Amino acid sequence: LIPTISVNATAQLSKINPNIYAGFTEHMGRCIYGGIYDPGNSLSDENGFRKDVLEALKELNIPTVRYPGGNFVATYHWLDGVGPKEQRPARPELAWLGTETNHFGTDEFLKWCEVIGTEPYFCLNFGTGTLDEAMAWVEYCNGTGNTYYANLRRKNGREEPYNVRYWALGNEVYGPWQVEQTTKEAYAHKAFQWAKALKLLDPNLILILCGESGTSSWDYYTLKQCLKPTKVTLTSNPTPLIDMHSIHMYTASKDHLQNATAPLAAERAIEIASSLIDLARIENGVGPDEPRPTLCFDEWNVWDPMRAEGRFGAEETYTLSDALAVGVFLNVFVRKSRDLGMACIAQSVNVISPLMTSPTGITKQTTWWPLLLFSKYMRGWTIAAHVACGSYNGDTSPTWLRSVKDTPWLDVSAVLSDDGFVNLVTINVHEQKDFEVKVEGVKGPVEVFTVTGANVTVTNMKGKEEVFVKETTWDGQGHYVFPKHSLILMRWKA
Ligand code: AHR
Repeated sequence: LIPTISVNATAQLSKINPNIYAGFTEHMGRCIYGGIYDPGNSLSDENGFRKDVLEALKELNIPTVRYPGGNFVATYHWLDGVGPKEQRPARPELAWLGTETNHFGTDEFLKWCEVIGTEPYFCLNFGTGTLDEAMAWVEYCNGTGNTYYANLRRKNGREEPYNVRYWALGNEVYGPWQVEQTTKEAYAHKAFQWAKALKLLDPNLILILCGESGTSSWDYYTLKQCLKPTKVTLTSNPTPLIDMHSIHMYTASKDHLQNATAPLAAERAIEIASSLIDLARIENGVGPDEPRPTLCFDEWNVWDPMRAEGRFGAEETYTLSDALAVGVFLNVFVRKSRDLGMACIAQSVNVISPLMTSPTGITKQTTWWPLLLFSKYMRGWTIAAHVACGSYNGDTSPTWLRSVKDTPWLDVSAVLSDDGFVNLVTINVHEQKDFEVKVEGVKGPVEVFTVTGANVTVTNMKGKEEVFVKETTWDGQGHYVFPKHSLILMRWKA
């Protein structure tokens, strides 16, 4: 049987939240200092922001960027990073064992977001931070009244509130690598109480609960404790306390097929976490009309700290195999758009990133190209796309994936974009085999964007761009041959 991909533009499944193309910048390695902020460099503007990085990220059209961590946030005190720079204290930094100068802080980050036209997403310090400090940060960013921290913001030169909506209730606080690691019981209690105070202060906040893998007892317990009917939480101001639940996942394998298919674990994680949300709501008697939290996949990427360079394995050199894996992650996010409110690639510059800087310029890694194509074209509505082809039946990473997910050679997702185009991404993960495929539902002429390379190990580093986007056309007639180890985005008028 000839492999077939069937696309049905009239079967609109769910709206894609543009926030699935969000980013993440942490005070880690060269992400902030030497990445987005490089004062004194001739490539930087009057704020010290690298202009080449700004231009590249504008091209990616990132709707939201998470900040300042990550693990960094567990000992971060935001007040250290506001006001005159010469008065800001340098502090020991315990997540990545460096010194934090605090020369880049809240006002610099929020200004940077305004320059690239993206929305900020702050993560609160659930390690050494206090609720008072968290509320003060919200007041500093969003306060409109004649109050202390709103006035401090004005004194620091910013009259208008920033209206920061997204706030995470801690980061990976379950992990032994965290300062003030905690139990699910202690975390759930604290997150619920902090959420209550924060929503009283500013009911427009969108609060993100710290989930784990999406598949653990931590996820179940914290959701069960925190997703309560609004009437029992805030009688004075009935607002849901928790708007999103986070998942983190990094995948990587030395074996190409395991590497490229590992992100399918994210699909299963989304399915399980989504069911846990339903279960918590059912068990707690949350009414059907109360808003249902979405999932916030706020750290995802291909990453193996053991193979990457830099302190703590922060700087990855990505191969074509990794680019295909990033494409599979993004296919998963499109397929699962019903449940996803946000997904942040970790991270956006230098640290496990598709974009690298040197003092003299930038390099777009292999993984840049799938990200760019998805962000540009895979917006709108997820539509039905079915693939019938052979499957990969070998070992998977993680090993449990093999028993719960089919891993077809061709991984697909499709959207109907607002400009009336059908956009279909097909990733052929096979290392040796091209597939001749019948594409049902296609109407020529078709624009074709291909990402591939000589073999799955090629990279774009050291001044040699081996992976990029090649643009061609197809008349939509007959079969299409999807070459080995490639990602192809096709577009045609619906
Ligand atoms: O993104 C790098 C690190 O990975 C983050 O700081 C942490 O949250 C995760 O473990």
